[in-house]
Amino acid sequence: MNILVINGPNLNLLGTREPEIYGTETLEELMMWIETSPKSSELSFKFYQSNHEGEIIDTIQDERHWANGLLINPAAFSHYSYAIRDAISAIEIPAIEVHLSDIHNREEFRQKSVISPVCLDQVVGLGKDSYIKGLELLVNSLKL
Ligand code: DQA
Repeated sequence: MNILVINGPNLNLLGTREPEIYGTETLEELMMWIETSPKSSELSFKFYQSNHEGEIIDTIQDERHWANGLLINPAAFSHYSYAIRDAISAIEIPAIEVHLSDIHNREEFRQKSVISPVCLDQVVGLGKDSYIKGLELLVNSLKL
């Protein structure tokens, strides 16, 4: 099974970015941890990070024939990118939205995701475990 993992803007700064909210691990460490998790043994991954909306859309489109599932932390784009939402909707590949922090218990602008309606599920607030939980949900949906 091929899993496309996309991380949105400012997640390249993980490790030093507001560590009290997002933890002290770098994005690279986090992605490596996902790839080497026992839950990933049967999976192939492609990892992307971009600070640019259009690049994220291009990646979703370009990888649509390779990917069986999409795990995405759209970061701040979650709250307003109808273009990313439409891209996910267009490719008809199961997607799970993940967030390190609990967006439902933060500033008001973070509490709404325009991406979640086109995803199978949303996992928030578990730190890096949000990604593993999201991956589990994604793989289970692909096995159905
Ligand atoms: C985030 C939450 C978003 O509101 C924020 O803009 C991020 C990170 C998270 O993983 O908790 O950049 O997606």
